[in-house]
Amino acid sequence: MKSIRMYVRLIRRIRPRWRTASVGLLLTLTSLVLNLCQPYLVSRFIDEVLIGRNARLVVPILGASLGLAAVAALGTVIGFTIFRFLEARHTLDMRTTILRHIRRIPLPEIEKHGAGKYMALLGMDTTTTARFINVIMIELISLWLQMLVALAFLFTIDWRLGLMAVAGIPIMMSLPRLYRRPIRAAVGGLRSHNEQIGSSLYESIQGSREIRAYGLEGWEEERNEAMYEGLVKLSVREGLFRQLSGQTGTLAVALATVLLYGFGSGQVLSGAFSVGLLVAAVPYLQSVLNPIQGMNYLIGDLIGSEVAMGRIEAFLSTPAESAAEAGDDVGLEPFPARRPLDLTCKDLVVAYEGTTILRQVSVDVREGQVAAFVGRSGSGKSTFFKAVQGFMPVASGMLRIGERPIRDWPRSALSRSVSFVSQETFLFRGTLFENVALGKRDASEEEVCRALREVGLQAYVDALPAGIHTQLDNQGFQLSGGQRQRMAIARAIIKQPDLLILDEPTSSLDRHTEEQVLSTIQQVMRGKTTLISTHRMETIRAADVIYVMEQGRVVDSGTHDELMDRCALYVELAKREERHERDGRTGGERLEAM
Ligand SMILES: Nc1ncnc2c1ncn2[C@@H]1O[C@H](COP(=O)(O)OP(=O)(O)OP(=O)(O)O)[C@@H](O)[C@H]1O
Ligand SMILES: [Mg+2]
Repeated sequence: MKSIRMYVRLIRRIRPRWRTASVGLLLTLTSLVLNLCQPYLVSRFIDEVLIGRNARLVVPILGASLGLAAVAALGTVIGFTIFRFLEARHTLDMRTTILRHIRRIPLPEIEKHGAGKYMALLGMDTTTTARFINVIMIELISLWLQMLVALAFLFTIDWRLGLMAVAGIPIMMSLPRLYRRPIRAAVGGLRSHNEQIGSSLYESIQGSREIRAYGLEGWEEERNEAMYEGLVKLSVREGLFRQLSGQTGTLAVALATVLLYGFGSGQVLSGAFSVGLLVAAVPYLQSVLNPIQGMNYLIGDLIGSEVAMGRIEAFLSTPAESAAEAGDDVGLEPFPARRPLDLTCKDLVVAYEGTTILRQVSVDVREGQVAAFVGRSGSGKSTFFKAVQGFMPVASGMLRIGERPIRDWPRSALSRSVSFVSQETFLFRGTLFENVALGKRDASEEEVCRALREVGLQAYVDALPAGIHTQLDNQGFQLSGGQRQRMAIARAIIKQPDLLILDEPTSSLDRHTEEQVLSTIQQVMRGKTTLISTHRMETIRAADVIYVMEQGRVVDSGTHDELMDRCALYVELAKREERHERDGRTGGERLEAM
């Protein structure tokens, strides 16, 4: 019953397409009833034609049998096709629903679980659930109907036969209880094993370079083999109990058939009922008991579907961000026209799952300023940038962009006004052009080319046979780290954002390219607000204001000269970086990576 409730809740979340489903169900069930008429026609054929010697009925009875079979076959084919369509459609609809929810839950939640969990939800769980809705449920309904119709036929033949079948029903129904628990345990175990193996195999592919470089093939196989062993055991257990459950049912049906023949032959010999009716009674009795047997077989699928539906339901019930955080403009005043945005935060505390990451951070960046954030690795620079984009929950304190607190910014307005380049560049499947144009959906080819020129990628693109229409596979693996970074910058600047956030945007660039890219950024962002985390002293020195971060706090702020005078940490960071720069080291250790 729990699964029925989940089924109803889930089906409400997706577009159920009731009308199509009803047509499919009607056709499937009608075909089933038509097929169930066949044993009755056989009984008429035996009694009227063979025993009653009435040759005139041969053609009508055989014709009816053939006609019914043809109509039933057609109905079955159309019904099956309809449910195939619905199964595919529901899988995709559920994926859309889940993906929409993924876009609404807090970002750290997604980063914590990684792709593995969501791939399982979007993949196996949706297909299992759609199969449950459109195949298993329909099969269950068909089996119940088959049972009822067959029972009606039996009562029509002889009420004692009907009663015999009714007596068999509770016995048949209680049989699966014997195996329900071990099957459920095995199915649950299989599910979590498969998930682990999925994540591990995903890592095996993602970490291909590390595995080869460190000679980890043996370690990888051992790790997988340990998981496979558990999977094999569970798989065998599940199969065994399913078979036991099924075969116990088959034996029970065989026993009932023998009893029917025993009772029926006495009745035929005493002349109470005809041979034809006994011959028809056997398939009808089996049609009453077999569906229950079929349900026993379906139990494994049923439990598997319950687990999948439960996971989807549980995920869809996880709280989303507030309406504004999630990007709904509902109930908010229209947003002011584009303009440079200032940034103020006071005593900002950001915590995630009990860990405080930012403590009492106060920042005041005025319109048109460039603010540089410096600090050791792990001091909280990236987290602060995430908070400014509304990706980290604000535990206390105030964070305001323009005239509004961050929580009042509709996501759509925020993404219109703010661009960011993160430490890890992400490129999508598609062409170079499409990847840059993601920053500005209506960008022309000319605009994209200009952005690529501005980040120094023109020569590279010109040398490609397909130019900006070159396809990028698997996150643009064919690009170098610096080229990928510049793609991300092109995507960020083509939008001409009011606020630009750059998290170590040039860490993979050589000095010359870095200079070119930073000067482009300066031009694009003239009069607008920029937040940057960088190791490059020249950029830091040129910033209007510098914030020095340490262990989640802003320990000091000011201009380069002010900080050189009074902030020991800044002096240390600056000296080290200057030494590196003097030594001509552009890669390796960075100011932030000390
Ligand atoms: N979601 C999270 N849950 C728990 N701790 C987190 C989370 N995100 C970041 N942290 C922790 O907060 C601290 C600050 O991380 P952050 O990425 O902001 O540092 P950073 O200054 O950008 O460092 P880097 O220069 O290495 O990029 C780190 O100690 C990190 O482990
Ligand atoms: Mg960082």
